[in-house]
Amino acid sequence: MTQAWSKLEQSAARLSAQHLRELIDTDQRFESLSFRHEGMLMDLSRQRIDAQVMNELLALADEKQLPSAIKALLQGEHVNNTEDRAALHSALRLPKSAQLRVDDQEVVSDVHKTLDRMEQFVNQIHQGQWRGYTGKPITDVVNIGVGGSDLGPLMVCEATHQFRPEASLNIDLHFVSSMDGSQLSNLLLELDSETTLFVLSSKSFGTIDTLANAATAVDWLQERSGLNRELLIKQHFIGVTAAPEKAVAWGLSEETLLEFWEWTGGRYSLWSAIGLPIAISIGMQGFRDLLAGAHSMDKHFEEAEFANNLPVLLALIGIWNINFQDIHAHAILPYDGRLAHLPAYLEQLEMESNGKSVGIDGSSIAQRTCPILWGEIGPNAQHAFYQLLHQGTERVMCDFIVPARRYVDRESSLQEQHQLALANCLAQARVLALGDAALTDGIERPPWQRYFGNQPSTVLMLDELTPYNLGSLIALYEHKVYVQAVIWGINPFDQWGVELGKKVANDLITALNQSANHQYDPATEGLLNEIQHLRGNGQ
Ligand code: F6P
Repeated sequence: MTQAWSKLEQSAARLSAQHLRELIDTDQRFESLSFRHEGMLMDLSRQRIDAQVMNELLALADEKQLPSAIKALLQGEHVNNTEDRAALHSALRLPKSAQLRVDDQEVVSDVHKTLDRMEQFVNQIHQGQWRGYTGKPITDVVNIGVGGSDLGPLMVCEATHQFRPEASLNIDLHFVSSMDGSQLSNLLLELDSETTLFVLSSKSFGTIDTLANAATAVDWLQERSGLNRELLIKQHFIGVTAAPEKAVAWGLSEETLLEFWEWTGGRYSLWSAIGLPIAISIGMQGFRDLLAGAHSMDKHFEEAEFANNLPVLLALIGIWNINFQDIHAHAILPYDGRLAHLPAYLEQLEMESNGKSVGIDGSSIAQRTCPILWGEIGPNAQHAFYQLLHQGTERVMCDFIVPARRYVDRESSLQEQHQLALANCLAQARVLALGDAALTDGIERPPWQRYFGNQPSTVLMLDELTPYNLGSLIALYEHKVYVQAVIWGINPFDQWGVELGKKVANDLITALNQSANHQYDPATEGLLNEIQHLRGNGQ
């Protein structure tokens, strides 16, 4: 137990009797607890903290040697110790003029070479020069990938749809991830095989979900065209991977392959060639704006003093809530429909990174780590799970994410809709913090109409949702995750916890194809027998 940790425990005891509405009601609360970086405001004034807690959290960061840990990350040291490699997503957004040598290799020039190749592909697609097997230009692009090879591009494409340049308006983007083929089978009914291009995205090129969807896509092309596999793959597939030899063995040709590097974690990979669907959607300039926004947050993370450093502060507030306020549920609530996929994206980023209980040195972690994180577009969630936030028995911390400006130059009813979303966002943050006191009508209410409040929240307000600001926002969360991992002493860049299930599934595929001769636990055997029975004894 460090000195700062003990002090924070004492502060938690000191503040425990105080309701958030009392904490909020202090001079300069908003001024002292809201922080800015370019077009982003981070408002922590609805957190259960005071100036002393803030100082103790900053002392904790120093005690945990955060400054050197940040340097280690950004300079490409092997911070991913269990896989003995760097985690250099920040290098993917460095400008061309920068230099960074990692493991005896200059990475920035490689990164920009890949960006240039992406640009060639994007231009060919936009200009109708990428043609299918009958010579027609591409009209539909289907990204096949899962986890980090799906969630980031999907989220960004949805969030930045309005920034599509003229050249991409004739191209429809689709995302397919589900292993059972349900998304793909529906989509294939609508698509024209002559004009459909598949982007096969897999860092490892070994993910069964993705390979199974890809095999179905190839079958479909063959059935429709009667042509051979090799030719179809060449014209209808772009591969994106860090395992090029496996991709080539699968049938992709080097000319249609975009590579990235082992030091790019899957859930940190949207900045690499995995972002190709984003570049197809918003053009290469839009993609470069996204990278520039993230790079700006990287610089801020590297250079700003911790007392004003947005990712560091966001992380420390999380530590306070989880480890000192005993809050283990975290809701992500965007008040903008364009960010519909942000909660799912952050679920992977946070829970796959920090859902750990073993430390860097292999010892068990004594304290709680990553909370359960989930979310939904805020206004929709108001009609679904906010009841629990307001009157349930769970303590929940919330992140409200909202742009201040939207629909500039658009008709007034849409402007009014944005006002409506803003008002609801502010209202919910206020009610969660203050409870009944949010309405000063003096009316006495029965118990079932009472609101306790005291639920802490952060408001992240963007001046507007642009590719640049979105890049900053995503990098903010990436660095927040890293800071929390440093404080907890865990490696956020591996994901061993997802491996065993894959192996056991492989084993069970064989069992599903045999009617006997296997011995699992009684629960699994019971289901296997039931499946055999329902399928008519082994067919
Ligand atoms: O199974 C988890 C995981 O490895 C994620 O970490 C990753 O984002 C996803 O699968 C997809 O992996 P790949 O890009 O190698 O297909």
